[in-house]
Amino acid sequence: MEIQTVVAKAKPKDRPVRVLFVCLGNICRSPTAEGVFRTLVEKQGYGDRIVVDSAGTHAYHIGSPPDARAQAAARQRGIDISGQRGRRVQRDDFRAYDYVLAMDEDNYEHLATLCPPGERRRLHLLMDFAPGLGQREVPDPYYGGGDGFDTVLDMIETASEGLLTRILEERF
Ligand code: 4NP
Repeated sequence: MEIQTVVAKAKPKDRPVRVLFVCLGNICRSPTAEGVFRTLVEKQGYGDRIVVDSAGTHAYHIGSPPDARAQAAARQRGIDISGQRGRRVQRDDFRAYDYVLAMDEDNYEHLATLCPPGERRRLHLLMDFAPGLGQREVPDPYYGGGDGFDTVLDMIETASEGLLTRILEERF
């Protein structure tokens, strides 16, 4: 009788899903999105399965903490973003991150140019995950008044729910 060797099919090691938020400076919108989304992910119990980061398209604020107004607005909602530091997005991020979320159309165009061919499916506008709000962009609050940061938080909170729902459908 022929002896059959049954080789158990190895289950690939579960790799965390990786999410990157990108704005221009990486000191206002994308650090806010990183903090909001990480908080949501942890609350929903996926903290060890979803990695969250942020970056900027420009190099103005590399190594800087988030803008003090962004920190204060997030803190009002119980989210601490003070430990983040600015970094610039790079081409390799499109291999390292499964979801790359642009805050506005300019960021999107910049990222589309940087993105290696074949990786475009990873790139999205964040607000596409909040279709009910009817807005394509998270407005840049840097030069605006104080409540701009609250508007940013409201929009990002809504889009974060939609994004997490999509990730759970696609990846879990
Ligand atoms: P962010 O906002 O892209 O949301 O971080 C900005 C931060 C800094 C500048 C512009 C936008 N800046 O021109 O320095």
